[in-house]
Amino acid sequence: MDKIHIIDHPLIKHKITKLRMESTGTSEFRKLVEEIAMLMGYEALKDLKTKDIEIKTPIEDTIQPVIDGKKIAVVPILRAGLGMVNGILSLVPNAKIGHIGMYRDEETHVPHPYYCKLPPFISERLVLVVDPMLATGGSLVDAVDEIKKQGGKNIKCICIIAAPEGLSFFNKKHPDVDLYVGAVDRCLNNNAYICPGLGDAGDRIFGTK
Ligand code: PRP
Ligand code: URA
Repeated sequence: MDKIHIIDHPLIKHKITKLRMESTGTSEFRKLVEEIAMLMGYEALKDLKTKDIEIKTPIEDTIQPVIDGKKIAVVPILRAGLGMVNGILSLVPNAKIGHIGMYRDEETHVPHPYYCKLPPFISERLVLVVDPMLATGGSLVDAVDEIKKQGGKNIKCICIIAAPEGLSFFNKKHPDVDLYVGAVDRCLNNNAYICPGLGDAGDRIFGTK
C-alpha cells in the first residue's frame, strides 16, 4: 500500500482530536475541517510541478519558480467534502472546482451518485478529491471511477479519518492513486460508521442533526 500516506504531524493529530469531540460545535467543527484540509493539502502538494518566471527584486532581475494553479482541480464529494475546499484553496487559489454528489444508502451503505460536474481539460489537471471520511471506501472508489471515466489521470485523494476496511478497498480498486489520510481508526460499526470516528461529518459541518 505504498500509495497510502498517513500524515504524521502533531498539529493535524491535535486538530483531529478536537474534531472528534462531541462537544465541538458547528462553527468550530467547520473551522477545524478547513484547517486540517489546508495542513493535509500542504503535504499532498509537496511534489507539485513549478515553472520558472522572470521577476524583478529590488536588487536585480532573476528567474524563480511559481506553481501553475490553472492545472489543479479540487473535487469535493458532496456534501461533507465541501468543508475542505476553502482549506485547499488557501494554498492554490487559482484551482478550479468540480463537484461529485454521492450519498450512502442508510441500510445497505452503498453509495448513490446524484451529481457530477468537473472542470474542463480534466485529463491535464492534478485532481484533488476531498472527503473527510473514508468508511467502507465505496464513495471514494466510485468518485475516482467517475473522474477516470471523464479522463482524469493524475488523481490524489485527501481524507481526514479512514477505517482500515476503506483503505484496503480503495487501494485494491485504485492502486495507482495517492491517498493522504490524517488518522486510521479501529474499525467500522454495524452501521458502517467509523469507530471512534467523529460521527456524521456532513451533519456536523452543516448542522443538519
Ligand atoms: C459520508 C462521507 C463520505 C461517505 C463515506 O457521506 O462524507 O462521502 O459517507 O462513506 P463510505 O466510505 O462508506 O462510502 P454521506 O454519504 O453520509 O453523505 P453526506 O456527506 O451528504 O452527509
Ligand atoms: N460517513 C460519516 O460521515 N461518518 C462515518 O463514520 C462514516 C461515514
